[in-house]
Amino acid sequence: MNKQLILNERPKGMPDGNTWVLKESPIPEIQEGEFLIQNHYISLDPAMRGWINDSKSYIEPVQIGAVMRAGSIGKVIQSKNQNFQVGQTVTGWNDVQQYAVSNGENVYPVDDSQVPMTKFLGVLGMPGMTAYFGILDVGKITEGDVVVVSGAAGAVGSVVGQIAKIRGCQVVGIAGGKKKCDYIVDELGFDAAIDYKSQNVFDAIKETCPKGINVYFDNVGGEILEAALSRLRKHARVVLCGAISQYNNIDNMKGPRNYMSLLVNRATMQGMVVMDYADQFPMAMQQMAGWMLEGKLQSNESVYEGIENFQETFKRLFTGEKLGKLLLKVLD
Ligand SMILES: NC(=O)c1ccc[n+]([C@@H]2O[C@H](COP(=O)([O-])OP(=O)(O)OC[C@H]3O[C@@H](n4cnc5c(N)ncnc54)[C@H](OP(=O)(O)O)[C@@H]3O)[C@@H](O)[C@H]2O)c1
Repeated sequence: MNKQLILNERPKGMPDGNTWVLKESPIPEIQEGEFLIQNHYISLDPAMRGWINDSKSYIEPVQIGAVMRAGSIGKVIQSKNQNFQVGQTVTGWNDVQQYAVSNGENVYPVDDSQVPMTKFLGVLGMPGMTAYFGILDVGKITEGDVVVVSGAAGAVGSVVGQIAKIRGCQVVGIAGGKKKCDYIVDELGFDAAIDYKSQNVFDAIKETCPKGINVYFDNVGGEILEAALSRLRKHARVVLCGAISQYNNIDNMKGPRNYMSLLVNRATMQGMVVMDYADQFPMAMQQMAGWMLEGKLQSNESVYEGIENFQETFKRLFTGEKLGKLLLKVLD
């Protein structure tokens, strides 16, 4: 049988026990040109919260009654498609389910002989690509820049900070709690950390970046974005990657009151969507894999088990009870 997570209703605020329902149905038969994937791991991403709102975005909302959209990685277990062989590891948008039928569209084989397959949903997957193109192409970092990144112990932020270090920047990460702050400094090599749960972020940025910020990479929005905008240097770049602090607050979203700081500092604030860089992913993955082999790029995954535990695990994105990339193992 195939266990699938179905969108049952659109939540107001944090998703709860009624948002999704688990459905069991027979494993589907494949037709000519198709292949069957057994999903091993599902990627849990903050963006999934936006996909279940009925509002215009960069991607269609998930419809009520549909299988919840998600990135995943797994193995081909049956194939009637000459481009995909049984035993191959593949990643793509194969949703929150144990088995997926594909015709090959948006599904890519990966070589997991050198690194665990979980890395292809994290540092070598969509979050890693977001970090790479966000900080290099949008943030346009150069040596000596002062870079501040929020969500710094998460899947995107942890990679942003390390790439900025590789490029010779001074890096300050903002994260929740001492454990995460110690992790980004002691293990990832950030220059300093700000614990937004116990410190005043505005004062702490002033202290750690006395000359101000050249690049602020925003994963969280809200008050932290406002604090960072207050400390911009001239010609600063603000990378608008995400606003997780606001995702469960859609009717009352908070924007920065001090956006005039952009004008005063001749600064830019630019949104980015990682899929716009899809044709350059292979190049970026190769460079990132090289950094990993050289020991310059560390990554961590928090893996929970059981498709039944999807909703409880998903909440960890918003409570912060995880380190690095959040994954759900769905292989029985
Ligand atoms: N634009 C794109 O193409 C693109 C692609 C991928 C991701 N994103 C965005 O990038 C951001 C980071 O994604 P990710 O995959 O790396 O997630 P993540 O950081 O691995 O997980 C989310 C983290 O956000 C922090 N957080 C949650 N609520 C918060 C709040 N109210 N205030 C401050 N921090 C809070 C938590 O860490 P703490 O314990 O430190 O609070 C949590 O662990 C998200 O906003 C996501 O939507 C954008």
